[in-house]
Amino acid sequence: MKESKLLLIPGPSPVVDRVLEALAQPTVSHISPEMEKELSGALENLKKIVFTSSGQPFIIAGAGTLAMEIALLNITAESDRVLVVSQGYFGNRMAEICEAFEIKHGVLQSQWGKVVTPDELKAELKKHKYEVIVCTHVDTATGACAPVREYAEVIHQQAPEALFVVDGVCATGGIEERLDDWGIDVILTAAQKCFGAPPGLAIDIFSKRAMEKRKKLARVKAYYADILRWLPVMENPNRYFSTPSVNEIRAFYEATRLVLEEGLEKRFERHERFASAIRSGLRSLGFSTYTDETCLAATLSVIRYPEGLDDQTFRKKLSDNGVVVAGGLGPTTGQVFRFGHMGNLTREQIIFAFDAIEKTLISLGYEFSLGDGVETVRSLLIR
Ligand SMILES: Cc1ncc(COP(=O)(O)O)c(C=O)c1O
Repeated sequence: MKESKLLLIPGPSPVVDRVLEALAQPTVSHISPEMEKELSGALENLKKIVFTSSGQPFIIAGAGTLAMEIALLNITAESDRVLVVSQGYFGNRMAEICEAFEIKHGVLQSQWGKVVTPDELKAELKKHKYEVIVCTHVDTATGACAPVREYAEVIHQQAPEALFVVDGVCATGGIEERLDDWGIDVILTAAQKCFGAPPGLAIDIFSKRAMEKRKKLARVKAYYADILRWLPVMENPNRYFSTPSVNEIRAFYEATRLVLEEGLEKRFERHERFASAIRSGLRSLGFSTYTDETCLAATLSVIRYPEGLDDQTFRKKLSDNGVVVAGGLGPTTGQVFRFGHMGNLTREQIIFAFDAIEKTLISLGYEFSLGDGVETVRSLLIR
């Protein structure tokens, strides 16, 4: 494989050779035995990853935004009202999708870098009736992780009829999400973040209740995104609705096998441990976290610069030193950088990244205690 820069943006995350090799397998017929095995295998693995026995997964060519549309359009009746619980950029995208499809909706918005509290959600549900409630598990712009399990408890108490949708694009496979036990109705996600697969797949897992709601709706505002057109294919990959992206599916199947080989509990704990080590390492170099300490995500860090460092210059030099991080989005542009640490990242890659960060800081004439960042992450990641 060609050498490339270490991609530490909040998705796509680095893709390991085993998954890239699966992607490079021959392009087979979408109704071949290979595809039957690999699509069915990926669907089964997805059920394990979100802890469901009765949920129905869908894997459809597209990106996370398509997964958002699929979730909303298939469970929303003409008369329904959707509550978007938003902690930033991707919650706002949910509201934009509602607007685009003329879905009635309200938005419960937190300050950027924070999350809506379960009490705030409860108060809103006491005031207004909603048939669908949507939240973002981790907002990739702010690095804030929502208390999804607590939201589910509030919804079950206050609005037991409402369907609960979780945007897990920056969480599923890296942070625990339990469809059955927590009573989530749709988890939507994508291949390119915590699964460590290449971008190109929209993924939705519908609960039994959500499937029943779709079946009751006479019509939905979707054609390609209508899950009832895809259901026969998911039940039997020998059927055709629209040509699946076979190579992406081969790669995604391999990526889900890797997730399960590591073990879910171990994987979630590793994401936590890496996140905490990376933040400690950056703090030791004078950086600080943008996100409120009470809701830091395990999958990415949004990092404020110390005095004297310019965003564009820092990221450009860091990229020259072999590591790519992302800039801020929306109101944080120029003030922060975003460090993705999800998927199949290794201890060695993190140490390499800190080495590159220190090299970058030296070249920018920034004063710091040389070796502190590398030593901090090295010692915290020794286990
Ligand atoms: C939380 C969240 N939701 C939705 C999306 C949209 O996904 P995509 O860019 O694959 O369309 C993203 C992308 O970063 C995301 O982070």
